Amino acid sequence: MNRFQKTLAHQDHGRPPVWFMRQAGRYHAHYQNLKKDHSFIELCKNPKLACEVTLGPIEDFKFDAAILFSDLLFPLETLGMGLTYDVGPKLDWHLKSLADLKKIRDPRHDLSRAIDTLKFQAEAIRLIRPALPQETGLIGFVGSPLTLFFYAVQGSHQGADFSDVILGLKDGRFKGFCDRLLPLLLENMVLQARAGIDALAVFDTCAGDVELKTYQSLVVPVLRELFQEFKRRVPEVALIYYSRGTHESYWRALKPLAIDVLGIDWRTPLPKVLEEFSERFMIQGNYDPTLLTERDPRVFEASLREYFRPIRTLSPLMLKSWICGLGHGVLKETPEANVRKFLQIQSEVFGNL
Ligand code: CP3
Repeated sequence: MNRFQKTLAHQDHGRPPVWFMRQAGRYHAHYQNLKKDHSFIELCKNPKLACEVTLGPIEDFKFDAAILFSDLLFPLETLGMGLTYDVGPKLDWHLKSLADLKKIRDPRHDLSRAIDTLKFQAEAIRLIRPALPQETGLIGFVGSPLTLFFYAVQGSHQGADFSDVILGLKDGRFKGFCDRLLPLLLENMVLQARAGIDALAVFDTCAGDVELKTYQSLVVPVLRELFQEFKRRVPEVALIYYSRGTHESYWRALKPLAIDVLGIDWRTPLPKVLEEFSERFMIQGNYDPTLLTERDPRVFEASLREYFRPIRTLSPLMLKSWICGLGHGVLKETPEANVRKFLQIQSEVFGNL
């Protein structure tokens, strides 16, 4: 078993494992080089290239887990929403009214054909697994129904006005969208899981933009059903649920769900989260990715040591429930040297556990 698997299995493993969301990406010369010859979509959809991108940060920085290089918006393409990338993602049309639900290509008519459009992810996983070092874990991922709904309605997650999405949660659009999306999303999760990953991450980047009561009454039930079904189909693969902009009250509502690892952002101090939630979940996070962009190496190192200090004093039992990482993705302005330094200091501080 690799370190990542041992942590997920609650076995004695010493130093907590570390991986970063977006560890393969624009801050990294390896990725930039591949981008000179290939578009982002090619890098995702050509399994050999997706494998090569995934392995880049493993070879360079020796993270304890790799994450499949792909994107979470591809199921929207399968639903007929037309997806291109021009710096950011772009959909051909948005879900602006109940009538627009009819424009969705309903995957329930032919689920096996729908899932065929995503099998490039399974092919990539089948190439990545044997190419990874023995000690490295592998993570697959999808977007949460809510985050995909944000993109379906708004086309992006930019700006501060999400009123049409919030309206859509209540006017029947979210229900109609989920009826069509969920069977496909579940198959997408199972497809990746059966191709050979240790954990599947569900990214809910938009969760914190929905107020608590709506999250509890409309979002949590959808997650409950999806996770329960996933665990019934593939119980051996761990489930990571990451949400951004959320806090303790949101996480309490997730306690009854089939989640193994709770990914959190940087807004709540990690020791506080471990103290309340580590008996129920493993906790993943939560260093602020903007601190990783610091240009002065001494300032960066000081901020990182300050982050680790209170965590290091926690009980070994609590530290066993921690997967070290960021509170969101690596930013493109991040110096590679900081990523290298992060792993080196993490190993120095927690290496003798
Ligand atoms: O973590 C990894 O290394 C795996 C790769 C990965 C990407 N996207 C590659 C990518 C993962 C896990 C994602 C998830 C993703 N994609 C999320 C959830 C996590 C998060 O960051 O909040 C979301 C919301 C998306 C949708 C998406 N795809 C956006 C908003 C963008 C543009 C963002 C940006 O940084 O410009 C993409 C494109 C994208 N996905 C890039 C990468 C490396 C940039 C492509 C490029 O310009 O080269």
